[in-house]
Amino acid sequence: MPPKLSLNVDHVATVREARKIDQPDPVLAAGMAELAGVDGITIHVRGDRRHIQERDLEILRKTVKTKLNVEMAATQEMIRIACDVLPDIVTLVPERPEEITTEGGLNVPHHRDVIRNAAGLFREHGIELSLFVDPDFDQIKAARDVGAQVIEINTGRYCEAKNAADREREYRLILDSIRLATKLRLEVAAGHGLNVKNVGPIAAIPEVRELNIGHSIIARAIFVGIERAVREMIEAMQKATPLELT
Ligand code: PXP
Repeated sequence: MPPKLSLNVDHVATVREARKIDQPDPVLAAGMAELAGVDGITIHVRGDRRHIQERDLEILRKTVKTKLNVEMAATQEMIRIACDVLPDIVTLVPERPEEITTEGGLNVPHHRDVIRNAAGLFREHGIELSLFVDPDFDQIKAARDVGAQVIEINTGRYCEAKNAADREREYRLILDSIRLATKLRLEVAAGHGLNVKNVGPIAAIPEVRELNIGHSIIARAIFVGIERAVREMIEAMQKATPLELT
């Protein structure tokens, strides 16, 4: 069975915030994507609120019928917001105000205390905790130590690989990391940079329960509509085959 698909609708809010008006509405996009077959909706509430606003979070919590995943930085402000709004799952990510998008995985040991505290609070509030990490054994072991239930493996370097050898090296790293995570009884998601052309080998890894994809689907939706863009991605995930390793 292919992994589930969670659509990140931040980019709909980015277009709205370019004009600071009330459309296009990520809430509507989320509903249409659910009708088209996604299994979850992801939003990133950034410290600078550059796209998703509190209003989106509050309405999406009430309207999302599948599963709401909220990405956020490991800060006291964000942890408090999560405990108020109660998403199904929180994914902690690193955040730099100047970055264009999330640049890499979380340094879990560096944020050990705040993440442990969040893990305890989220457990009390029934929120699943995921950590966005690079395919790096130390980060994965640390994720287990701080009490995460899920890791989301950063596929960014695999997606950006410029040649077959680099891609294979990154893919092997992802495979080995997922093997370790599974041994440590962590559930595995993956995402960043995935599109219909590169999603296959990642979707073909049986341990990956979910993919979080945003930019490529929303970019395609501008031309063909959300429904078709989502269906094309689901089809690509269903046709997935592993990367042939040399
Ligand atoms: N996963 C995480 C943790 C992210 O920060 C992002 C980007 O918002 C994604 C997945 C989706 O990445 P993309 O927009 O490249 O599909």
